[in-house]
Amino acid sequence: MPRLSCWFVRAALLYLALGFTLGALMLANKGLPLSPAIWRLLPAHIECLLLGWTVQLIMGIGFWILPRFQGQRGHEAPAWAAFWLLNAGVLLAGLGATLALPGWVIVSGRLAEAAAVAAFAVHAWPRIKPVGV
Ligand code: HEM
Repeated sequence: MPRLSCWFVRAALLYLALGFTLGALMLANKGLPLSPAIWRLLPAHIECLLLGWTVQLIMGIGFWILPRFQGQRGHEAPAWAAFWLLNAGVLLAGLGATLALPGWVIVSGRLAEAAAVAAFAVHAWPRIKPVGV
């Protein structure tokens, strides 16, 4: 597995653990009300699991298994940019919403996530071709 895929998959697993823990806290809080403040974890739970886990795992495995040409994965810089942008975005948007930080924090997180998707597409697009072309 290439080094970037290791980073993606390890980060994805951390977000999976964190996202499930936050979900479990909210679930427990439904049966045994601990504090209404626990509901503030919902945006972080969603951010961790939908982007931090799912999208990150897909990018990590995609970088690994998409077709290589002459043994190369093409331009790796945009894929590395996708990794840093996605993680910055999840942190900014997740913490911004949970800690009720100013709106621009959440907006910049969302922009970083969108830029991560664009950067990954720039990397992956040339690798997506039919056999023999
Ligand atoms: C990949 C796995 C998961 C994803 C993508 C996910 C995603 C979500 C999303 C999008 C919501 C918001 C739903 C809404 O507002 O209608 C939500 C709510 C919630 N999730 Fe998860 N979740 C996952 C796993 C879990 C797990 C494992 C737990 C518990 C251990 C959990 C506990 C909760 C709770 C308690 C809520 C709040 C439900 C409510 O509004 O009453 N989630 N989750």
